[in-house]
Amino acid sequence: MPDIKNPKRRTLLRASLTSALLASAGWPPASRPVSVQSDSTHTPFAPELEVELRAKKDQLAIWPGSATHVWRYDGKVTQGDAGALVFLSDGYVPVLRVRRGQKVRIDFINELPEPTIIHWHGLLMPAAMDGHPRNAISPGQHFRYEFEVQNRAGTYWFHAHPDGRTGAQIYFGQAGFLIVGDEEEAALKLPEGAYDVPLMIQDRKVNGDNQFAYLSQPAGGMMGRGGMMKSAMMGNGGMGDMMAQMMGFLGDQILVNGRPDFVLPVATRAYRLRLLNASNARIYKLAWNDGSPLTVIGTDGGLVETPLLRRYVTLAPAERIDVWADFSHQPPGTKMTLESREFAGDVAMGGMMGNTELPMGARFPVLNVRVTQHSDASNILPMHLGRVPAVRPQEAVNFSRPRVFSITMGMMTWGIDGRRFEMDSVTASETVRRETTEIWEFRNEASMMLMAHSMHVHGVQFRVLKRSVATEFSSARDSVAGGYVDEGWKDTVLIVPGERIRLLIRFGGYTGTFLYHCHMLEHEDSGLMRNYLIRA
Ligand code: C2O
Ligand code: CU
Repeated sequence: MPDIKNPKRRTLLRASLTSALLASAGWPPASRPVSVQSDSTHTPFAPELEVELRAKKDQLAIWPGSATHVWRYDGKVTQGDAGALVFLSDGYVPVLRVRRGQKVRIDFINELPEPTIIHWHGLLMPAAMDGHPRNAISPGQHFRYEFEVQNRAGTYWFHAHPDGRTGAQIYFGQAGFLIVGDEEEAALKLPEGAYDVPLMIQDRKVNGDNQFAYLSQPAGGMMGRGGMMKSAMMGNGGMGDMMAQMMGFLGDQILVNGRPDFVLPVATRAYRLRLLNASNARIYKLAWNDGSPLTVIGTDGGLVETPLLRRYVTLAPAERIDVWADFSHQPPGTKMTLESREFAGDVAMGGMMGNTELPMGARFPVLNVRVTQHSDASNILPMHLGRVPAVRPQEAVNFSRPRVFSITMGMMTWGIDGRRFEMDSVTASETVRRETTEIWEFRNEASMMLMAHSMHVHGVQFRVLKRSVATEFSSARDSVAGGYVDEGWKDTVLIVPGERIRLLIRFGGYTGTFLYHCHMLEHEDSGLMRNYLIRA
């Protein structure tokens, strides 16, 4: 008898479960009343799109020879537009497309051998739907998500978020795209269908038998909350794992949508490339090999106001960038490479510690584009993209005293202001009021080991107000800072050693505990994550 775990509605659901689930061995009919609103109005939730998603073990042919064991998502639309969920690369990459204002129900089934939960990265969600590790479900259990899409159009994503095992589960394949559309964007007639291409970039370490190799002692086991020194002293995983856990795990094979040596065949026309860095810890400095600039049209939270030209774009773990790529002047036969360029060792420190043959900050190809077909499509890049309001820091209730969070390391474990993640703990300095605007400042200067971090705040989209860097780190920062895209809406930002960043954050109407953390997943899993509370 499966168990639907969703604290808000467990009682209500349980009553109808026996008959509905046992009778149909499937999902209860859509008409069944379920109360879901976070504001406890008890209006029945009438989903316009219903999806069944499973986390499951599978094997995929990625390299010639043995199939690779993965933990992937599988699923289907059970009501609504059947094309809303597609899978790329034989199932490795799910792409779920929703619309702003749409009511979505997702029935999630855990067929993995350990607890898991899905987080909808970048989406504005009630706390109970946000995929907090406390809501992780055991093997065989179900979780019903119900939400109305609040976000503007953009490239969001979803991934596993269990306690201490996020790094391992994403590494083995628990990640997908969540693409939101809306009317503002549709009116621009940007490239769509085959010309709107989600590209998920990841690095993997692969053993001789084509299997993904991760930390030998899983994060969250001996190496989780106990700290890295403890596990090293106990002989679990050894020194290499300890360093990988502390610095972040890097692979030496670059996969795009789960494929090595990825080639995108294109026609002579414009494309929208949605680039997602779903790597555990690697930062990319993306540039076209022929030196032409990248044309950025969107960031984490959707379209920017006007196209931005960048010589390169720095993409930290969990960040997204939408790029306009016009191949109409390239003759068929042309090959182009999107590569990752060199950047400074101080930023890249993780790679210097010897846990990979492809150090962070090295130059390598990410993907190839090959012009294979002629097309007469005329695609004109709109000069006005999204409406992005001006940043108004004076709206912040703490305008004169920003809330400061320092990344720290004590006893060889990461933390924020000296505190590590604890499932339920949240302090007064981590408590905000709903529907207020605040300035938050993250500082990357206090820890005894300085390296780059990718800071993410759940439940919000924010704006970047300003950055500053200590002079001794300015040249290292300059090796990546030309690729920051701080315009537009963000939910994840890179801060390099010695750097401070100020964010303007508007908290929405949903109350409860949400997470803020580093998205370098080994940092997150070993404690660089905290709850914050939105109270009424
Ligand atoms: Cu994509 Cu808590 O994160
Ligand atoms: Cu970090």
